[in-house]
Amino acid sequence: MPKLMLALDVLDESEAIKISEETSEYVDCIKIGYPLVLATDLGIIKRIKEKTNKEVICDFKVADIPATNEKIARLTLNYADGIICQGFVGLDSVKAIINVAEEYKQVGNSKKVIMVTEMSHEGAKSFMQPIANEIAKMAGKLNVDGIVAPSTRPTRLKELKEIANNAFVISPGVGAQGGDLQEVLKVLDENDYVIVGRAIYLNENPKESAKKYKELL
Ligand code: XMP
Repeated sequence: MPKLMLALDVLDESEAIKISEETSEYVDCIKIGYPLVLATDLGIIKRIKEKTNKEVICDFKVADIPATNEKIARLTLNYADGIICQGFVGLDSVKAIINVAEEYKQVGNSKKVIMVTEMSHEGAKSFMQPIANEIAKMAGKLNVDGIVAPSTRPTRLKELKEIANNAFVISPGVGAQGGDLQEVLKVLDENDYVIVGRAIYLNENPKESAKKYKELL
């Protein structure tokens, strides 16, 4: 069974802490992105880790030149257990992030680099989908830890997972974006993660919703 990753895109620190504590029994990993970090500060990652004892992955979809990617990765991985970057920027930009993660690994700090292949929203079909298989191939070549692939398109999810065969998959699109969890479960395995955000944190009872998703998984 795949694991459950909570996308914690709320804008208020006390709400973020409350939801992450309430749901932590059912959630395997927490994903924090620009909404919460920009509304608070980078230290929110540490504070949520301390409260929940969960892995926290930073979804910054880093997409810059190698020198800038390196700086962003260094600052982020100082707090987070992993970082999400874009693959379309090319091999050297992703490699700059992998190099930073390697430095942390050398001092016994395991950090994950997770690369976006094809995004889950409708607009991703225009420019990302036509190149996503190539990006997934690059994920295999670079040996990234994980890839992001869409639960909104289970057929594409399967193809991308097969292409990047050494990487685990984290997959958004179930819940608010309408992805079919039963179809997704035919593709993902125990190394992978289903990402759920709004369907948990906007629910009037986030704990019950997280429990429901955990049971469905
Ligand atoms: P919802 O509320 O739709 O949250 O359950 C989904 C979370 O995942 C992020 N997201 C993506 N991240 N590639 C990514 O790297 C994607 O294709 C993608 N689609 C959604 C979204 O920002 C939210 O945090």
